[in-house]
Amino acid sequence: MNQIIKITFFVLMAVCFVSCSSDGKNKAIIEKQHEAMSNNSEIDTNAEQNKSQNKADVSDDSSRSDTKEKNMPEFDFDKKTVKLNSGYEMPIIGLGTWTLDDRTAESSVYSALKDGYRLIDTAQYYGNEKGVGNGLKRAVNEGIVKREDVFITTKVMPSNFNRAYSSIDDSLRKLGVDYIDLMLIHQSGSGDVEVYKALCKGVKDGKLRSIGISNYYTAEEYDRVVSGGDIMPAVVQNENHPFFQNNELQQYVSQYGTVVESWYPFGGRGHTQDLFGNQTIKAIADDHGKTPAQIILRWHLQAGYITIPGSQNPDHILENYSIFDFELTDDEMERMKNLHTGQRYENW
Ligand SMILES: NC(=O)c1ccc[n+]([C@@H]2O[C@H](COP(=O)([O-])OP(=O)(O)OC[C@H]3O[C@@H](n4cnc5c(N)ncnc54)[C@H](OP(=O)(O)O)[C@@H]3O)[C@@H](O)[C@H]2O)c1
Repeated sequence: MNQIIKITFFVLMAVCFVSCSSDGKNKAIIEKQHEAMSNNSEIDTNAEQNKSQNKADVSDDSSRSDTKEKNMPEFDFDKKTVKLNSGYEMPIIGLGTWTLDDRTAESSVYSALKDGYRLIDTAQYYGNEKGVGNGLKRAVNEGIVKREDVFITTKVMPSNFNRAYSSIDDSLRKLGVDYIDLMLIHQSGSGDVEVYKALCKGVKDGKLRSIGISNYYTAEEYDRVVSGGDIMPAVVQNENHPFFQNNELQQYVSQYGTVVESWYPFGGRGHTQDLFGNQTIKAIADDHGKTPAQIILRWHLQAGYITIPGSQNPDHILENYSIFDFELTDDEMERMKNLHTGQRYENW
C-alpha cells in the first residue's frame, strides 16, 4: 500500500513539473500580458486595433500564409510595421548605427528620417545615443517627424548589468526622450536574469514601451533569461543573414509573439561582399533591376525578420529603404533559403 502511495506521489510530482515547466509559465505570462494590454489605457488606438487583428489572425485559418502557418507575428507591408506582443507597432526596417560616432550617427539618423525610416537602432555600448538623439531632435525641430512616430531601440551593455535599471535613465537622458520604444539586454552574461527583471520594471514605470533580448540563440537561452520576468520579450535581436538563418529559434519564439530582428543583415563590415557577390543574390537582383543589398533586405522582411542595415552613406540609406516596390517570388525565397550554411561572422 505504501508503495502505491509513493508511486502516486511521484507521478503527481512529475505531472506538476511538466505543467510548471517554462513553456507553461511563459504561456501564462503571455496571457497575463494580453490581459494587462486590454487594461492599459496608455496603449494607442493602433495597438488596440492590432490586438483584435491578432485575435482574428489566430482564428482565421482560411487566409493563412506561410508566415501565419508558423504562427509568426505578421508584417504589414503597407504600413511597414509589425504588431509586437506589447501592443505597440514596430517598423520592420530601420537604420543600424553600430560603429557610427555621435556626429555621424546624428547625420545618418537625420538622413534616414528624411527618407522615411521610422526605426533607429542604437546601444549604450555604441557610445552614440547622444548623436542618435540629436539626429531625432533635428528631424523633429524641422517638422519631418514627431517623436511618437519614431521607434528608438537601445540596449543595456554588460558593464551596466549591475545597475541596469538606473542605466535606463542614462539612455533616456542621452537620447533626449522621455520613453524608449524598445530596450534589449545586449547579450547574455552573469546577472542577465536580474537585468531582464529590471527591464520589466522599466515597462511598469513607463520608461520603456517594449523589451527584448539580443544574442540569445536557442530556446533554452531564451527561457533562462526570461525566467524571472513577467513580460515576454517583444523582440530577439540576433546575427541573421542569408548564410545564417535561425529558423528554429524564430519558430520557437513566435509562440510568444516574439519577433526576430536581424543584425548584420549584410554580414557586417568587411563581409558584405560575400553576400553582395553571391551568384544567386546577384541573379535575383538582375531579374528585378535591384541591387543585391535590396534583395537581401527584402528577403529579411519576407522571411519575417525585422532588419536594421547599418550605413553612414546617404545614398545607401535611401537605397536600403527603397524595397517596397517589388516582391520576391516563392521560388526566389526558396533559393535564398537554400543559401543557409550555418556560417556566423561573430561569436558573441
Ligand atoms: N545586438 C548586437 O549585438 C548587434 C551586433 C552588430 C550589429 N547590431 C546592429 O545591427 C546593425 C546592422 O549591422 P552592421 O551595421 O554592423 O552590419 P550590416 O548592416 O550587415 O553592414 C553594414 C555595412 O554595409 C554597408 N552598406 C550598407 N548599405 C549598403 C548598400 N546599399 N550598398 C553597399 N554597402 C552597404 C555599410 O557601408 P556604408 O556605411 O558605406 O553604407 C557597412 O559597411 C548595426 O548597425 C547595429 O545597429 C547589433
